[in-house]
Amino acid sequence: MALRDNIQSLLAQVQDMKANSADELEALRIKYLSKKGEITALFNEFRNVAPEEKRELGQMLNQLRQQAESRVNELREQFEAKKAEAERLDLTRTPDPIALGTRHPLSLVREEIEDIFARIGFTVEQGPEVEDDKHVYGMLNFAPEHPARDMQDTFFIEKEIGVQKPTDVLLRSHTSSVQTRVMTTRKPPIRVLCPGRVYRNEAISARAHCFFHQVEGLYIDKNVSFADLREALLYFSKEMFGAETQIRLRPSYFPFTEPSAEMDISCNICGGKGCSFCKGTGWVEILGCGMVDPNVLEACGIDSKVYSGFAFGMGVERITNLKYRVKDLRLFSENDVRFLRQFESC
Ligand code: PHE
Repeated sequence: MALRDNIQSLLAQVQDMKANSADELEALRIKYLSKKGEITALFNEFRNVAPEEKRELGQMLNQLRQQAESRVNELREQFEAKKAEAERLDLTRTPDPIALGTRHPLSLVREEIEDIFARIGFTVEQGPEVEDDKHVYGMLNFAPEHPARDMQDTFFIEKEIGVQKPTDVLLRSHTSSVQTRVMTTRKPPIRVLCPGRVYRNEAISARAHCFFHQVEGLYIDKNVSFADLREALLYFSKEMFGAETQIRLRPSYFPFTEPSAEMDISCNICGGKGCSFCKGTGWVEILGCGMVDPNVLEACGIDSKVYSGFAFGMGVERITNLKYRVKDLRLFSENDVRFLRQFESC
């Protein structure tokens, strides 16, 4: 009999029902169990069944519907469990890695310089960037008409906006101003390192900028000699650029040191053989230095007959260029992430 066969074939289909998604399952439910579904259609046919068969076929039909419903429910539970698993929040999981910023190359190098000098007893001192003439020039033995004070080099701060009047407030052009502040407030022995930003009125190009960074050092005690200065700088150069590094001191002039010198290191790019970086000389200049002029000690209230000292000053950009071969100074202040990211692992 047709109905019996239909029930049996649908039963086989229902028992074997599979779905890959909740949508597929819903389609199956509609196919078999909805008002227009195949099982519902069999119930309609059942009305025409002969009375003696009603009992048996009725049982079979009810069984078929139950099987279909329980299979649909079973599959639905499986999908819901999978969905719940996917949505479960595991609060013990480590978070996705957060992209951290990179250290600025100038900070990396400044800290390396600070570390090297910390190992021979230098502590870091800081001072204001907006300074007065006295601390930047006056106490450092600059004659009143010294060209460094000229508007060409120094940024003076107008006391009244838009009105140019002679003023002694300025942006410091070197961090020697921190040294004058330390010398006037402390008694020797003094052993300080003064890192910081300085300003000079220069046109911005690949090789010059209107601000840059310095680290200056000062050591004052009894019997400090030029040999001490040379030893400290040789130690620094070897630590910074490698044990094979050599140094060379050339006579120079600074108002606040006497004698004064400029220091070269053997070119760390060609190892002293001569290359385009050192213009074939095998040497590159990295800092200015000298013995603190007795006039400076006296101006800061230190007895120059008892004490002597040395000072040095270097540009952090220059040292960074030598270490990382950065060709254009402007890269240091543009903060282009393509440049900064290159220091990720440093
Ligand atoms: N202050 C000097 C400059 O800015 C550097 C320097 C410091 C030189 C200490 C000698 C001694 O150029």
